[in-house]
Amino acid sequence: MIVFFLLTNTDNTFQCGATVKYNNFMKKFYIETYGCQMNVADSELVVSLLQDKGYKLTENYKESDIILVNTCAVREKAELRVRGKLTLYKNLKKTNPNLKVGLLGCMGQRTKDELLEQEPVLDFIAGPDAYRDLHNLIEKAEIGQRAVNVQLSKEETYGDLKPVRLDKNGVTAFISISRGCDNMCSFCIVPFTRGRERSRSDKSIIDEAKNAFEKGYREVTLLGQNVDKYKFEDVDFAKLLQKVANVSKKLRVRFSTSYPHDFTNKVIQVMADNENICKSIHLPVQSGSTRMLEKMKRGYTREWYMDRISAIKKIIPECAISTDIIAGFCSETDDDHKDTISLMKWANYDTAFMFKYSERPNNYAQRNYADDIPEDVKSERLSEIIELQSNMSYESNKQDLGKTFEVLVEGTSKRSEKRLFGRNSQNKVIIFDGNKKLVGKYVNVTVNKFTQATLLGEMNE
Ligand code: SAH
Ligand code: F3S
Repeated sequence: MIVFFLLTNTDNTFQCGATVKYNNFMKKFYIETYGCQMNVADSELVVSLLQDKGYKLTENYKESDIILVNTCAVREKAELRVRGKLTLYKNLKKTNPNLKVGLLGCMGQRTKDELLEQEPVLDFIAGPDAYRDLHNLIEKAEIGQRAVNVQLSKEETYGDLKPVRLDKNGVTAFISISRGCDNMCSFCIVPFTRGRERSRSDKSIIDEAKNAFEKGYREVTLLGQNVDKYKFEDVDFAKLLQKVANVSKKLRVRFSTSYPHDFTNKVIQVMADNENICKSIHLPVQSGSTRMLEKMKRGYTREWYMDRISAIKKIIPECAISTDIIAGFCSETDDDHKDTISLMKWANYDTAFMFKYSERPNNYAQRNYADDIPEDVKSERLSEIIELQSNMSYESNKQDLGKTFEVLVEGTSKRSEKRLFGRNSQNKVIIFDGNKKLVGKYVNVTVNKFTQATLLGEMNE
């Protein structure tokens, strides 16, 4: 077969008999990702889709023809960061007028055409369910048409794609098991940006896990906005977890995020029964006050949440537990805040992600409640929450002093190739000396030092 290459910037395709060939082989694209792990997994799908069309991935934005920014809209701060980055790319266009800049993900889904008007640097926008259309959007941009596709889908799971892993460690991989969210927590924008909840077939998930294992990966993290609602035909999340754990005893399995209302004892039991399912659960509480939880439309009370934590601690005493907390949600009183503090102490979290409430346009809270907690009060409460968590994380790490853990080695430290890092089952990072040949292997490490953020140790021979 003779393949012709056409090297122009505007004409992207040409026809040769009945076959259509793309000249994108010369087009380099750069992708950067903001936000959650799901966005990282989405970027891996985007890379796969574009490489299939002949585009080439580059790690240097300065030499790229196309820059893709995969965005987050969960808090205003995340959007402001992206806006800042777009200014940089606007300047880059002055020296490289052929450069095309596209915005992917939740921020574009939220703002739609409006953002195209506000940010002349943008050539196209693709929402989370529109990635199969990216090639068309790029082609339109090439001929000077600015285009937007923010169509949400009830079916799209990208289940047939083979993601191109962006984390170069070759050891840990993300696997999306479901997309979207039907929960409609009042503060959240995700149901609007990612659309309706839908689960991918268990077969495609297992195939992806097997494929990753065969390529040398030793850990998969199953991702969904609410993994507990996973359902494909008769397979629920507990069954799926068991199936993934069966791929190999040498494949570690993690998952995120669990939702307190839907988190079952069955899932805890599957975790307990399988050594390769990591003993770490991320169970976002958001607030310790039942009144706030009601306003947040979380569908559980403080007591319900405590019962879930008790069940985890009873069935898997060594399980690490982490959470998400929002400080200063609408009408939050000092007493509500105290409830959060007391719940944190009771749960004794190993780690937490802690945020100030950030009002998001057009969701339930924005339409129905006043964002009435003054900024300084939000900051004060958040500081108290962070300080408490820092102390608890420090104490949690202190408990590990002298203990030996099985660690999956993920890489070498930036400063020295002789310094290795990995994580134990509880998702804690451990740093120790060793040969870089051990990356991707399991080793036993005894903890001999610690900080609030990491454990340091010595490998057992
Ligand atoms: N279920 C999702 C939640 C996505 S948002 C998941 O997989 O993690 C992640 C966290 O951001 C939430 O748990 C919440 O603590 C926080 N968050 C969401 N909306 C927020 C808002 N408007 N202001 C502040 N924090 C918010
Ligand atoms: Fe958001 Fe609640 Fe879903 S936090 S992602 S609406 S579970």
